[in-house]
Amino acid sequence: MIETHSKEELLGRIGALLEQDSCDLHTGELHSLIRDVLDNQATYLRAAEKFGTPQYLFDEARLFQQISRFQKAFNNSEYPVHTHYAFKANPSLCVVRAVHKAGINADVSSGLELDLALRCGFNRIVFSGPAKTDVELRLALQHSDRVTVHLDSFRELDRLEILAAEMDRTIDVGIRLNTKGHGLWTKFGIPLDTLPDLVQRARTASHLMLRGIQFHLSWNRNSEGYVRTLCDLGKVLRTVAPPNGWRFIDVGGGYYPEDDEAAYPWLTGRGLLLSQAGVTSAGSPPEDWDLRYLLHAVQPIETMAQDIFDAFDKHIRSWCDAELWLEPGRYLVNPAVHLLLGVVDVKHSEIAITDGGTNLLGWERLEAEHCPLINLSRPAETQRRTSVYGSLCTPHDLWGYTCYASDIREGDVLVVPAQGAYVQTLAQRFIKPICQTIGLNSQGDLRRINEEESVDDRYPELGRTSAPGTL
Ligand SMILES: Cc1ncc(COP(=O)(O)O)c(C=O)c1O
Repeated sequence: MIETHSKEELLGRIGALLEQDSCDLHTGELHSLIRDVLDNQATYLRAAEKFGTPQYLFDEARLFQQISRFQKAFNNSEYPVHTHYAFKANPSLCVVRAVHKAGINADVSSGLELDLALRCGFNRIVFSGPAKTDVELRLALQHSDRVTVHLDSFRELDRLEILAAEMDRTIDVGIRLNTKGHGLWTKFGIPLDTLPDLVQRARTASHLMLRGIQFHLSWNRNSEGYVRTLCDLGKVLRTVAPPNGWRFIDVGGGYYPEDDEAAYPWLTGRGLLLSQAGVTSAGSPPEDWDLRYLLHAVQPIETMAQDIFDAFDKHIRSWCDAELWLEPGRYLVNPAVHLLLGVVDVKHSEIAITDGGTNLLGWERLEAEHCPLINLSRPAETQRRTSVYGSLCTPHDLWGYTCYASDIREGDVLVVPAQGAYVQTLAQRFIKPICQTIGLNSQGDLRRINEEESVDDRYPELGRTSAPGTL
C-alpha cells in the first residue's frame, strides 16, 4: 500500500499530521465538568463519608438534566421523534428505571437487556445486534406488541420468520444497514446495495412487518456521519420500499458528550511522530512534554440535532413520512456517574495511591486518555503534577498524572467524573472486587444500590446460544 504513494505525497501527509493538534484538538480545560463536580462538593463528600470509598456515585438529577437537554434538542413539532436509551451503555437497574421515569424508550442488544426492559415496563423496545439466539428471538416474539426487531442479516430474517410462524405471531422489524463509511462497523447489518434483495425477501415473510431502517455510527463529535449516511440512504430507499412504505429511520446512537475525556499530546499523531523521529523522548509521559491536555472539538447537541433534522428533511421527509428514531447511550448517561476514590498513601508530592483500581474502569483507559481528577477535599482551579495510581499490583493502574488539588493528603476524597457509560459494564473483578454503587436521588437522598437489583445471571438461559443444530 505504502509503496503506491510517492515520497512527496507521504511527506505531505506527515506534514498535515504535524499540524493535527491545531485542527481538531486544542488546549483547554474541561471547565464545566469540573464546575459541575464542585457545585456538588458537599453532597459527594457526604456520600464518601456515609458509604466509604471506592464507590460509583449515580447522580439521578444529572441524568434527568442530560435527558432533558437531549430531548429539547431533538424536539420536533412536524413529525414524531422517538428516543431509545441504549442499555449497553449502562444497564444498572437504577439508571434504567430513571430513564423509564423520564419517558425514554429502550434499545437493547441481548436477551438479558430485553428481559430487563420488559421487567421495567418499557413499552417501545428496539432489539438490535448480531447473532441473536432462538431463545432471544422467541422472547421478542412473545412481546411483539412492545418490541421491534432490527434484523442483522438475511439469515436472521429467515430464522425469525420460522420462529414467528411456529408461535403464530407477527412482529415489526427494521433492517440494520451499513454503508461505505461504516469501517469496522460493517460487521453489523447488511450492505446498502443488498437492501433491494432483502426487501424482496421480506415480502415473502408473512409474519414479519418490515417498517424501517436502522444504522449506527459511534463516537460522532459532529453531525457529518449522520448527514452523509442519510444522503446515501435517501437515494436507495426511495427506489425500494415495503408494502406500507418506510415508517421509521433509526439513526442509532453515537452522540459524543461535550466536556468528556481529552487527549494526551504525546499520544496524538503529531506526538507519536515527534517521538519516533527522536525529537522528543519516549515514555509516558515523556519528560519533555508539559502535562497540558488537548480537547476535542465537539459540536453541541443542539446544532448536531439541527443538522440531522435538515438532512432528514432533505433526503427522507421530502418523499416519505417516516419517523425519526434515535438510540443515544453515552450522551445520556456518561455525565451521571462519578467514581469516588479515597487516598490511602502519599509516597511523596508526586505519587498518590488510592483505594480503587482501574479494574473499576475495566481496562487501562487512562494511560491513553485524560480524564480530570478532582480532589474534593482540597480542590483547586488549576492542576498540580501528582501521578495518581490505584491499588492494583500493576504499574498500569493509573488514574492520571495531574489533579485539580491544592494538595493531596491521606484520607482525601478524589473524583473521577463522568464515568457513566461503558464503565460499570466493563468493570472486572481483577485482584480487587468491583465496588458498590451509591444512588443520589433528585431529592438529595443517598442510598446503597442493592446488589440484587443489578443485572446478574438470574436468567442464564438468555445468555446461552441455542442447542446445536437449532439455528
Ligand atoms: C446499534 C447501537 N445503537 C446505539 C448504541 C449506543 O451508542 P452510544 O452509546 O455511543 O450513543 C450502540 C453502541 O455501540 C449501538 O451499537
